[in-house]
Amino acid sequence: MLSVALPKGRLGNKVYKLLEAAGYACPELLEDSRKLIFTSEENGVKYALVKPSDVAIYVEYGAADIGVVGKDILLESGADVYELLDLGFGKCDLCVAAKNGFGEDRTRALRVATKFPHVAEAYYRAKNREIETIKLFGSIELAPILGLSDVIVDIVETGKTLIENDLSVRETIAPVSARLIANKSACKFKDAEIERIVREMEKAI
Ligand code: PRP
Repeated sequence: MLSVALPKGRLGNKVYKLLEAAGYACPELLEDSRKLIFTSEENGVKYALVKPSDVAIYVEYGAADIGVVGKDILLESGADVYELLDLGFGKCDLCVAAKNGFGEDRTRALRVATKFPHVAEAYYRAKNREIETIKLFGSIELAPILGLSDVIVDIVETGKTLIENDLSVRETIAPVSARLIANKSACKFKDAEIERIVREMEKAI
């Protein structure tokens, strides 16, 4: 049996629709319940509903063979997994943004507020720019407005949150979309099952 970590929430609904179109339906998943594990005997698949930020961890440790995760979370996790497919949805960009008119003081460390400290640190390390990372958990856009940070590193989808808060993108770090990932040893021991689901998902994209 192939175990699949599905992200809960908005991304999860899109992933489920794709799995359904690929012939891996599990109608019980759509029921309103608190169950976390669903089995589709006919497809030989067991689904686990996982918090999006935990998917890569389950897959890296082999608690799930494959899973779907946003590239932003995947980059931040640094998980040692294979990336098998770009699913083409959940698109946004990881960006550096600041208040309109912000002028950078290059004589001191740049204060960066973010939910993605590893991404931010790797990005500025590559640019040889010293930063002070301020880890936040949401509404990151508040940080430069209230003077907590100089810039933010965050995802930008429509750009509406930035515009409505008088902020704008200064640099784009990476494009983001949903990715199908796999545990490295599962790719050896369950290669036929994984190849089949990848092939069917690819056709359904
Ligand atoms: C995300 C992100 C931005 C916003 C970007 O926040 O952190 O705040 O969406 O979307 P936009 O470009 O379409 O405006 P999310 O909705 O996940 O909530 P959070 O701020 O609580 O993390």
